[in-house]
Amino acid sequence: MKILVVGSGGREHALAWKLAQSPRVQLVYVAPGNGGTAQDERLRNVDITEPAALADFVEKEQIAFTLVGPEAPLAAGIVNLFRSRGLKIFGPTKEAAQLESSKDFAKAFMKRHAIPTAEYETFAAAAAHAYIDSKGAPIVIKADGLATGKGVVVAQTLEEAHTAVDMMLSDNKLGDAGARVVIEEFLAGEEASFIVMVDGKNVLPLASSQDHKRLLDADQGPNTGGMGAYSPAPIVTPQLHARVMREIILPTVRGMEKEGNRFTGFLYAGLMIDAQGNPKTLEFNCRMGDPETQPIMARLKGDYSKVVEQAIAGTLDTVELEWDRRTALGVVIAAHNYPDTPRKGDLISGIPAETADSVTFHAGTTLADGKLTTSGGRVLCVVGLADSVRSAQSAAYETINHISFDGMQYRHDIGYRAINRKHDAKTKAKGKH
Ligand code: AMP
Ligand code: GLY
Repeated sequence: MKILVVGSGGREHALAWKLAQSPRVQLVYVAPGNGGTAQDERLRNVDITEPAALADFVEKEQIAFTLVGPEAPLAAGIVNLFRSRGLKIFGPTKEAAQLESSKDFAKAFMKRHAIPTAEYETFAAAAAHAYIDSKGAPIVIKADGLATGKGVVVAQTLEEAHTAVDMMLSDNKLGDAGARVVIEEFLAGEEASFIVMVDGKNVLPLASSQDHKRLLDADQGPNTGGMGAYSPAPIVTPQLHARVMREIILPTVRGMEKEGNRFTGFLYAGLMIDAQGNPKTLEFNCRMGDPETQPIMARLKGDYSKVVEQAIAGTLDTVELEWDRRTALGVVIAAHNYPDTPRKGDLISGIPAETADSVTFHAGTTLADGKLTTSGGRVLCVVGLADSVRSAQSAAYETINHISFDGMQYRHDIGYRAINRKHDAKTKAKGKH
């Protein structure tokens, strides 16, 4: 069978890499793909991005099903279009994708269904300023629409909060995405990514993971799309897992069904877990996480093409996933000047071949005339696998030592929370504090 993966990032490379491992799969097309998917002989890049042209391609090539990576084509209705043409695709419709594409939609939905989340109000006008003054700082300002990670400002001071509102509402810096703003309560705690597959009714949870959103070590510097992730995330204990399913995921899937807006696809709840272990929903995404997908796919065993087929058929209740017991830890290597305006065109060298305990997924890379160069902000994600978080971390950084390009930047502490947690648990057990 042939499969199509839509997208060009590290997430899509990891999904295509996993799907291509199936003995049933002859070829995985990636549209448009990147330098890494270009190099793998089981994968083939297709230079098409327009949904109707993709549907034509799928018909012509008799592709069994399509898996969509990023939110933009989902929010634009690629699933609606494919279904109207009788083509199999896994992802949410445009209407269901509003859980990600409109923060106001997601917040109002959570309120209607009593799903734990930060208190909020939505504004399209200057009343936002008075609301901020009445609530005080810290406070969080979010553009309603999709803003490629630039739409959230966690304001530590009132001044920052007012500036953020002006930037979105008055100066229109984010265009339509910022025409309305959600202002919400600041939540303290530790974040985790909780990602499941949904077939409209049944829910299949994927392994837990944790992302690192800030650019620099110790969670300093600006927010990014994600600088590294690992799986499993020890903060997601079996108890917390059960609670998130009961209080957040299942009410969301049931609520969407009840409202006549069935959700199919990956559902990603970004969680904030407070010091007492209570989870709240920071946001929903209607797709997998990037870079969370890279360590998650590295741990997934079995034939993933069958799982996606079951998801499309609505029979996820019959599927059981098997995971590599090891920890997978992925470190993102970003380009010079990421996340502002990343430099392109730097020559990349030294990426080691995949081994049993390390694999490098590409994102912003291009292969031309046999040369691999940078072409985006997040360039590579190097995944290490080992029995402990610390050893998985060493495996990833050992691989990175071989890789070089001008201006490369990466964090040196991916996985630190899991490592500290273990250390804290040990010292507590010894009665040291
Ligand atoms: P979002 O796109 O809504 O997940 O927001 C991006 C990032 O902003 C999150 O990963 C958090 O680090 C931070 N954030 C969002 N909402 C809140 C909140 N209510 N309180 C504290 N931090 C938040
Ligand atoms: N890693 C965060 C995201 O994919 O939204």
